[in-house]
Order: sequence, then C-alpha cells, then structure tokens
Amino acid sequence: MLTADELKKRYPQKVASTDDIFGKIKAGDRIFISTGCGEPQYLVNTLVRYVESNPKAFFDTEILHVWSLGVAPYSDAKLKSNFRQNSFFISRHTRQAVNNGDADYTPILLSDVPSLFRLRQVTVDVALIQVSPPDEHGYCSLGISLDITRAAVESADTVIAQINANMPRVHGNTFLHVEQIDYLIWHDEPLLEYPPPLVEEKIAEKIGHYVARIVEDGDTIQIGYGGVLNATVTALGEKKHLGVHTELLSDGLVKLLKSGAVDNSRKERNRGKTVASFCMGSRETYNYINDNPAILFREIDYTNNPLVIAGHNHMTAINSALEIDLTGQASAESIGSTFYSGVGGQANFMRGAVLAPKGKNILVLQSTSRDGKNSRIVPALAEGAGVTMTRGDLHYVVTEYGIAHLHGKNIRERAMSLITIAHPQFQPWLIEEAKKRKLIYEDQAYLPGEKGKYPAYLETYRTTKHNQRILLRPVKISDEPLIKEFHYSLSDESIYRRFMSVRRYLPHEELQKHYVVIDYTREMVILAIIEQEGREKVVGMAQYYLMEDTMSAEVSVVVRDDYQKMGIGFEMLSHMITSAKSEGLHNVVVDILPDNTAVFHLIEKLGLQYERKWESGIVRLIISMKDLAGKNN
Ligand SMILES: CC(C)(COP(=O)(O)OP(=O)(O)OC[C@H]1O[C@@H](n2cnc3c(N)ncnc32)[C@H](O)[C@@H]1OP(=O)(O)O)[C@@H](O)C(=O)NCCC(=O)NCCS
Repeated sequence: MLTADELKKRYPQKVASTDDIFGKIKAGDRIFISTGCGEPQYLVNTLVRYVESNPKAFFDTEILHVWSLGVAPYSDAKLKSNFRQNSFFISRHTRQAVNNGDADYTPILLSDVPSLFRLRQVTVDVALIQVSPPDEHGYCSLGISLDITRAAVESADTVIAQINANMPRVHGNTFLHVEQIDYLIWHDEPLLEYPPPLVEEKIAEKIGHYVARIVEDGDTIQIGYGGVLNATVTALGEKKHLGVHTELLSDGLVKLLKSGAVDNSRKERNRGKTVASFCMGSRETYNYINDNPAILFREIDYTNNPLVIAGHNHMTAINSALEIDLTGQASAESIGSTFYSGVGGQANFMRGAVLAPKGKNILVLQSTSRDGKNSRIVPALAEGAGVTMTRGDLHYVVTEYGIAHLHGKNIRERAMSLITIAHPQFQPWLIEEAKKRKLIYEDQAYLPGEKGKYPAYLETYRTTKHNQRILLRPVKISDEPLIKEFHYSLSDESIYRRFMSVRRYLPHEELQKHYVVIDYTREMVILAIIEQEGREKVVGMAQYYLMEDTMSAEVSVVVRDDYQKMGIGFEMLSHMITSAKSEGLHNVVVDILPDNTAVFHLIEKLGLQYERKWESGIVRLIISMKDLAGKNN
C-alpha cells in the first residue's frame, strides 16, 4: 500500500485543501454520496462545515444517495438553501424529511440507477466516495459499497475520494485507479456499522425454523435487509452446500459463510464465490471480507439483474415486507402513504428467483408490528401503499406462526392460508374482514382462544420404512381444499372401511364442521402430508375425539389408496397414540369392520395391547395406554 506521503509525491495534483476542493462545487450541482456504510463521513462533515463557514459557498445543490446511515448534517434546516436531498432508498435519518416534503424520494429499482447515471438521465456533477488506500499499482478499492458507486464515479465530472485505511479491499469489480479520481483526501476513521434491529429471540427462532424447512441443501440464496431476516439466517446453519448471490452482504450471511453452510460449490455462476454488491454490518464482517478471494463484489445492475439471478438453479430469494394483505400483495416500501424505505432490489430477486429452474421466493415477516399492536397481515393494504410484490409474485410467506404457500392459490385459499399464519389475537378480526370483502366463505367458522389455538408442537417429520418423508401435522383452518381433494381421492372401499358407510358427498359445511375447524381441546385431526415443490398433498388423515366423561378417545385413520402399505398409517397412528398418551388418556378405541386385517396388523406392528368388543357387527378395539411407556415415540 502507498503511504500518505508517497501518494502526495506521486499524485501531487490530486491532493489539495478541502476548501480548494469544495470551492469547485457550483450552484445547482448534483452531489452523489456513497451508499449506506460506505458513506465518507469525514468528507460529508467537512463539506457541511465548509458551507457553514463560507457565506459565499454554493447553494441549491442536490444530494443524491441511497440509504444514508450517517448523521446527514446537510439535512439541517439552516442549510436548506444549500442542499436538498434526493434518496433512491430512504433511511431512518431521511424518512421524516421526505415525508414532511423537505427532501425528495426517487422510487426506482436500484439495478436501474447505474444506467440512469451512465445515460446521464440524472447527471452526477460531484461524487463523494470512500476508498481503501491505493496499492503500489495505484488501485484503490470501493470496498463495502460498490453497488451504484462505480457508475456514479464513471459519470461524475468531479470525483472526490476519502481514503480510509479502515476500508477493506474487496475482490471483484471494486477497483478504481487513482487516475479515475480527481481529488484525494486521506482521513482514517471507523466505518459506519449497521446493527440490524433486534428481534425477539423466540420469534426469530420460530421464523428461522420455518424458513429452514423451505430452503434446501445446495440452494443459492439471497437475503434482504432487516432484523427478522438477519436473525433467521442462523437457522440455515445446518444446511450444506449453500451458495450466495445477493445484493446486501449482512452479518447474518457472513455468519453462514463462516459456519461452512455456504461453500458456493453448486452455483451455476461464479462457482466458489459469494457474490454481493455492498455490505452493511459490523467491523468483524468488514474484516472478514477484506482481501477474501471467496467473496466477489459486482455492480448492482449485475447482482440484481433478474436474468443473472435466474441463471442459478435452485435460487431462493428471502425478503421481508412491512405489510401483506389477504390477497397476497405486499409492501416493503411504504406504510400507507408514508414513504418508509424504497423499491430497492426485492422485486428483482423475488422475480428472478422464480424464473430460475427449481427457484422459489420467501417473504418473511413478523406477524405483528414490534409493539404487538398491529397485525402485519391486513385485510387490505392501507391507502397509498406502494405494492412491492404483486399478487402474482409470491410463493411462500413465513411468520412465526407458520408457512403460507400462495403460488397458484385462489383468493379464498390464500386469504385462509395467510389468516392461519397471522397472530392469533388478530385472526377473528381478519376472518370477519375477509368475509365482509367476500374473500372467503360467508360462513367461515373459527374457534377463538384455546379451542382454536393451533398446536404447532404436534408437527413432526417422519420417514416411513419405505423411505417416504412425510410431515405429520394437526389440521389448520386453511386445509379445507386439501382435505376435500384427499376425501374425493379415496376409493369406495377405503371410505366404507373408514366411515362404515358408502356416503361420498362431503359438502363444505360438513367438511369445515367435522374436519377443519375443530376444537383442539377435545378433538384432533392429524394429516400426513407429502410436500411437493411447495404444494402440500394430504396422503393420510387420523382423527380422535375425546369421549365425554371418560379418559378415552375414539381414533380413526385412513390413507390414500395409492399410498397404502407404505408405512404411512403406522407413522400416523403411532403419532396419534403418542399425543393421546401425552394428553393423559387411559384408552383409545378404534371401531373397525371385523375383516379389517390391515388395522389388526397395524396395531400389532405398533406393539399395542388391546381388548376386543363386538357391537352391532363392528369390532371395537380398546387399546390401553398404561403399557405404553417407552413405545411408539
Ligand atoms: C388401515 C390403513 C389406515 C393402513 O394404512 P397403511 O398406510 O396402508 O398402513 P402401513 O403401510 O403403515 O402398514 C403397517 C403394516 O400393516 C400392514 N398392512 C397394511 N395393509 C394391510 C392389509 N390390507 N393386510 C395386511 N397387512 C396390511 C403393512 O404391510 C405393514 O406391515 P409390514 O410393516 O409388516 O409391511 C389403510 O389400509 C386404510 O386407509 N384403510 C382404509 C380405512 C380403514 O380401514 N381405516 C381403519 C378404520 S378407522
């Protein structure tokens, strides 16, 4: 690396006093400032001091920036005649000014900004950037903020760079030769850091658990901004051979890189490399990416290009939103008409990912606002909200209450799925609002309180002895279409054996009353599900009802004909019996036709002791829970 003295000797014409340099800025100029944590704080503060101490300094300039994280001293009201801000992505520091009308906001996909500069649709007169010290060949690195900064540098009339020894040298397209810079000001200071907003640990854990169910080994992932996303990546630590192609490199992602879950070995593009465009995180993260050949920074019109994103098989984009409505459109940009952040790169990634072979997208959000007062799942987006994800975009939505798969689902199905993953406190309200809007059945039932509280703890994955992986989970109020499909797939014989009747017709009213909207404190329906590319297919259903005034439950089970004799009945019944036992039941009873050898065989396989009773042509098997310790778990 060159020292400050060597730099002065080699490039004397590029070193001048700040007064001389800033004196060249003219009224009406557009001044670009590097993004996020790459903001050259010393340059910005010195510029503002220069203006404050020079009554004749320029006026009416426009500050162009993305996600200003610094203190933004130029936004002070007394400098109103000198600066007006224009954000491509709003931050906490600029939000109030934008919404008061004291600053501007330009909604744009960040991937479109470089061409905006290069085609001079927006001219950049002065670029204030921050770089690492130059090497002996004269190359500095744009370090943690490449994104739109290179395009700004290449199209600006004057480039002023703060050299900061704390700026990492990052591999990729980050290098600028000193000759591309007009003025150099050396000032070392700690880089801005971005501690993502904290999320309650339990909530992050639950969300992470659901996201980890969707992300598969070998996927290439992108993860967006925000506390929830940063916290939930921890849950991906157990995955193998993940790849990363992302816009923002966060502390969370770097943790995954360090853990070995990411090795980029399966990526179609840039194999072996983690690709990102900028980084916002902690000092530790900046140290990690310094001179790290496994990390490649590319400009934002490359990383965020949907065609590049779609070039990764198994691409999985994971982003967050402020609100989602019951039809499946989400806003990440505004809360009603209050501008909150920006268009950013979310739409590029979420769309690019689903264009990829076996690609998918996941929208992650906490079910309520941080104070718990508002549901983020709402009947309709508030007036003025900017739609970031349209109804056609989303595949999965995840909250701490589960997963809603929206792709290919009609309005009723998606509204019910989203209500199921809303905070239980808001579910009755959402159901009533959805009914008013005719989004769901007019008579959609719901049991509030304990009776309707979904027992997520009963969810479990099992692999049958025929190597079929199944999810066993209690029924949800959104499962009506799945159960309907399952019921009508059953043969007459299976229906007869299960219901002791040949009646097939199962209208909505009965379906919801007997199988879908159940009182979990008195009955249970466990579904055996095969997950196929996001869709759930019910292949078996087990039920029990508590019998009044006894500690017994009546159990029944049925498996789809084309999945019988694959061990599914065994897994369901064993799960059912385990849960019945944990509820403190003494007995379970199963009513069968006398020739139902399958059930006898099944019960024997489970090692259950039973007594038989005959009642009007039906055999009642009474299974005692007492002798069960250690079995069926
Ligand atoms: C009874 C039923 C649920 C069993 O489900 P399943 O998923 O096919 O059962 P499994 O594959 O787990 O079988 C467990 C054991 O029983 C055996 N088995 C299954 N069906 C059998 C049959 N018809 N005859 C003899 N043994 C049978 C299996 O071979 C297996 O034993 P193995 O491990 O030695 O191979 C299923 O046959 C069904 O849905 N029947 C119609 C509905 C019904 O009769 N319900 C019971 C009244 S509530």
